[in-house]
Amino acid sequence: MSDLSYLDWNNSIQTLSKAYDSGLFVIIIGPKGTGKTSLVREFARINDKKLESINFSLRTRESHLVGTKTLTNGTVSFDEGLLVKSMREGSLLYLDEINSAEADVLLRLDEALDDRRQIVLKESTGETIQANEKWFVVATINPLTHSGTKELPPQLLSRFPVRISLEYPPEDVELKIVKKYVSEADESELVQGIKLANLLRQAAAVEELFYSPSLRETIAFGKLLDNKMSPKEAATIVFGNVYTQWGNIEYQKVKDIITSLFGN
Ligand SMILES: Nc1ncnc2c1ncn2[C@@H]1O[C@H](COP(=O)(O)OP(=O)(O)OP(=O)(O)O)[C@@H](O)[C@H]1O
Ligand SMILES: [Mg+2]
Repeated sequence: MSDLSYLDWNNSIQTLSKAYDSGLFVIIIGPKGTGKTSLVREFARINDKKLESINFSLRTRESHLVGTKTLTNGTVSFDEGLLVKSMREGSLLYLDEINSAEADVLLRLDEALDDRRQIVLKESTGETIQANEKWFVVATINPLTHSGTKELPPQLLSRFPVRISLEYPPEDVELKIVKKYVSEADESELVQGIKLANLLRQAAAVEELFYSPSLRETIAFGKLLDNKMSPKEAATIVFGNVYTQWGNIEYQKVKDIITSLFGN
C-alpha cells in the first residue's frame, strides 16, 4: 500500500474550502462508494477541524441531534447532542444520508441551519445556542433510487446552496485510486476489473441490472489480485456472485460479461 490519502480528482476540496470561507453549507450528492465520506474526512484533516458525524436513518431521533435529559444521583442534567455540540465548538458537522431521516428530525435541522445559525433548547433550559463562527456543515444524500431514501424537503435543501455532485470517476482516475490500495497487482488486470465495474454500472443505469458496483468493489478486486487470486476468480467473487440474489438470468448476464473480459 502506497499512499492512502484522498485523490482529489475533481477539485472538490477547493469547492469545500470556498464554501467554508464564504460561510455556506454544502451538500454532496452521489451514489454509494464514490468517496463522499473520504472527501469530507480529508477536508477536516487538511484544515485541522474536528469532525462530528451523524449517520441518518429512520431511527434517528431529535434527541440524537439536540440532546437528552439525564438523571444522575438525583440531579437532572442535559446531555447535548452532536448538533448542539458542534454549533458550540465550531466543528465540522457531517450529516450523512440526511434524506433518510424522518420529517420531525429534519425540522429541527431547518431551525439550526437557518441564516441565524441558532437553536432554542426547548428540551432543557430554553436557552438559545448561537453557533460559533467556524461552524461548518456538510451533508450527503444518495440518489433517490436508493431504497429508504426520500426527497429532501426544498426548504432544507435551500440551506445547502453549495452542491457537489460526486459520480464514479473516469476509468483512468479510478485506476489511480485503486492503485493506492494495492502494491503487487498487475496494472492491465486492474484495468480489466475497472472496465468490468463500469460496464456493470452502465447496465444498472439503464436498469438492465439490479446492482451497480462501487469503488469499494474495484478496490476489493485489486486487493484480491494483490494476494495472488486470479483475475477471473476475483471478478466472479467480487462482481459476479452478488447478482445470484436476483436469480440465474441476472447472474448469467454478468457471467457472460466476465467471460468476455477474462476468458474461459
Ligand atoms: N478520491 C479517492 N481517493 C482515495 N480513495 C478513495 C477516493 N474515493 C473513494 N475512495 C475509497 O473508496 C471507498 C469508498 O469511499 P467512501 O466510503 O468515501 O464513499 P461514500 O461515497 O461515502 O460511500 P457511501 O455512500 O456508501 O457512504 C473508500 O475505501 C475510500 O477510501
Ligand atoms: Mg459514506
